[in-house]
Amino acid sequence: MRTQVAIVGAGPAGLTLARLLEVAGIESVVLENRSREYVEHRIRAGVLEQGTVELLREAGVGARMDGEGIVHHGINLQFDGERHHVPLTDLSGGRSIVIYGQTEVVKDLVAARVESGLPLLFDVDGVTVETLDSERPRISFERDGTRHELECDVVAGCDGFHGVCRTSIPAGVLSTFERDYPFAWLGILAAVAPSIDELVYAHHERGFALLSLRSPDLSRYYVQCRPDEPLEDWPDERIWEELQLRTALDGWTLHEGPVLEKGITGMRSFVVEPMQHGRLFLAGDAAHIVPPTGAKGLNLAIADVHVLAEAIVDRYASGSTTGLDSYSDVCLRRVWRAEHFSWWMTTMLHRLDGEDPFDAKLQLSLLRYVTSSEAAARSLAENYVGLTTL
Ligand code: FAD
Ligand code: PHB
Repeated sequence: MRTQVAIVGAGPAGLTLARLLEVAGIESVVLENRSREYVEHRIRAGVLEQGTVELLREAGVGARMDGEGIVHHGINLQFDGERHHVPLTDLSGGRSIVIYGQTEVVKDLVAARVESGLPLLFDVDGVTVETLDSERPRISFERDGTRHELECDVVAGCDGFHGVCRTSIPAGVLSTFERDYPFAWLGILAAVAPSIDELVYAHHERGFALLSLRSPDLSRYYVQCRPDEPLEDWPDERIWEELQLRTALDGWTLHEGPVLEKGITGMRSFVVEPMQHGRLFLAGDAAHIVPPTGAKGLNLAIADVHVLAEAIVDRYASGSTTGLDSYSDVCLRRVWRAEHFSWWMTTMLHRLDGEDPFDAKLQLSLLRYVTSSEAAARSLAENYVGLTTL
């Protein structure tokens, strides 16, 4: 088999890249080691930056998002028993965010690919990436018990943090920058109307909590927990009890409902540089991870493939490799801004392990500053909705 671009991974990065290339008339093959069912039901992010929304719309996959996505113009920060509204749109020159689950983005992209009749192979095994330094990189994989070879011009490594593309780069090429956090998020999807109009990020002495949503009758709530805690230690009653305690506010009620799904996600910051080697280009979680407090993971993945698609299109249209050559440098500017913002939100809002009372006082002082100074709130807002000047 031969194609122009081989894409490893059918998450948001791989599927969006395939779609952008299709629109530009460039061939690609997408290889995914999980099933379609699995990929379409993996519950993850929920906040789309305006730039992400605009790109999906331009790529012709925005119809359901425009119908069902919920536009938000602000978020809330809660601490010391008070809830403070941060008017994102007013503070960011009119920009907003859209609440639309990553599962739905993935379903829309898969449906579009299937409708176009273009190659998207699920359930492939044993993907290996070879001869990255040559003009003709080769991918080998197994499907239905048969080994296949795919030759291409460019490999897009969109296979997430645990994928094979990053690890196929020879030792010594990549530099790794990382930070682990001594806490995790326990997330639930609950069949109950959200008790809030806009997201609530709550700082509390018992630990952080986040109130989010997916639709008029689905709530998505999180509580900070320890990364090593077994899920069995968190029966539904305990989760609701912690959510109630950490988000309590006079005159407001958190409504409970059946828990449809729950899971624990560890938190880390991670970046490799450069995000490319020879003809292999890493995009999304394959190259970087952010803790979810800034709602940046999915948006960064899509921003990467936007840059990559334009560079590939230019390479075929003009023969110039300038865009491809600067891919990593261009992406890393946004990546590091998001890394800093996500670290900043995370350390401002979570209960730190064995917390020093001095740290707790600094957190509260910062929260008070961000919710009382327009300059500080504006900085949060422009980062949260997604910077346009990078
Ligand atoms: P992925 O979505 O990971 O997609 C990679 C794809 O590659 C997957 O489909 C995988 O099955 C496939 N793959 C892996 N290895 C191979 C292989 N060897 N061969 C072929 N295919 C392979 N972000 C937020 O902003 N908010 C959140 O609440 C949030 N929650 C998260 C919860 C979890 C459990 C995780 C892991 C991440 C979460 N994130 C969140 C981050 C966000 O979901 C990711 O940043 C986003 O999914 C990145 O997209 P991606 O396409 O780069 O990677
Ligand atoms: C979500 O809705 O899942 C969500 C929202 C905001 C975040 C992280 C996750 O910062």
